[in-house]
Amino acid sequence: MKKNDSNIKKAIKYLNNNECIAIPTETVYGLAGNAYSDKAVSRIYKLKKRPSNNPLIAHYYNLKDLKKDCEIDITFKRLYKKFCPGPISFVLKLKKTSRISKIITNNSNSIAVRFPSHSLTRKLLKKINYPLAAPSANISSSISPVSKQDVIDEFGPKLKLILDGGSSKIGLESTIINLIGKPHILRLGGVNSKSIYKLISPFESKNKKKIKIKVPGTSKLHYSPGIPVRLNAKKNYQNEAYILIKKRKKLDKNYFYISKKNNLKEAAKNLYGTLRIIKKYGYKKIAIEKIPNINIGEAINDRILRASKK
Ligand code: TXA
Ligand code: MG
Repeated sequence: MKKNDSNIKKAIKYLNNNECIAIPTETVYGLAGNAYSDKAVSRIYKLKKRPSNNPLIAHYYNLKDLKKDCEIDITFKRLYKKFCPGPISFVLKLKKTSRISKIITNNSNSIAVRFPSHSLTRKLLKKINYPLAAPSANISSSISPVSKQDVIDEFGPKLKLILDGGSSKIGLESTIINLIGKPHILRLGGVNSKSIYKLISPFESKNKKKIKIKVPGTSKLHYSPGIPVRLNAKKNYQNEAYILIKKRKKLDKNYFYISKKNNLKEAAKNLYGTLRIIKKYGYKKIAIEKIPNINIGEAINDRILRASKK
């Protein structure tokens, strides 16, 4: 605990100086900088090699802080009450008086915001008087990091500080919902889409079948492990790493279990780490067993589908 406190002090020092640091969240690790500072935000884009037209999520401690920058409505309040702090991001209208750097939003008048629940990052957010812009702490288009070591693997010595919050509890990014106009989900993630539909009834009847994913960052090549991925595989071919959702009796060196027995939460938590391990082992191809498309399985399937695109 003491160590964490001194690290938070260091973190604040760097952030106040417009430097970037890595922070743990319950979804994935983020590459954070002062969201009010053009300098800090530009550094994030540069480090991540992120195209400037791809906006960032601003991370807040609480509603009071958010209200300084964004307009909110009743739908937002309902979702906030139910899911925050937690793995959900909202696209909201910016207030004219907002101090958010224009670089984050690519000059738009809307912004994605989120309230992470990880205790270490909440401690940090409580102590600073600006929100943190934080994309996932990986080089653009690769797999999001879910541990301190993953962040080191992405950035090496380029980062001055990584706050170590252990392995991310959820392991997949936040669900993003656009609340401008008719609410619609932009990215599947940590909060299950059905539990969101339940709270927004007009949305429920219209958009049940197909969710249109529109955010820039969910384009092809995202969440890519950099080697071919084959989905719904009933078996693996020679030298193919085989990702399984359920443990088998027969052991095979090419098998990688993301859950012992069809537990989707456990699978979500282990997915990115397993993809990284498989790459480190030097496999040239990955096969993945069919994942049930329910609860967080939806978000897992979304990510592995993107990972499978060339
Ligand atoms: O769980 C998460 O959301 C993690 C942790 C660190 O908070 N962050 C994260 O950020 O996944 P990033 O930048 O890797 O992904 C955010 C996605 C991108 O695809 C981006 O295009 C989209 O959100 N996005 C950001 N701002 C947006 C906006 N104003 N409108 C629409 N999409 C937006
Ligand atoms: Mg990302």
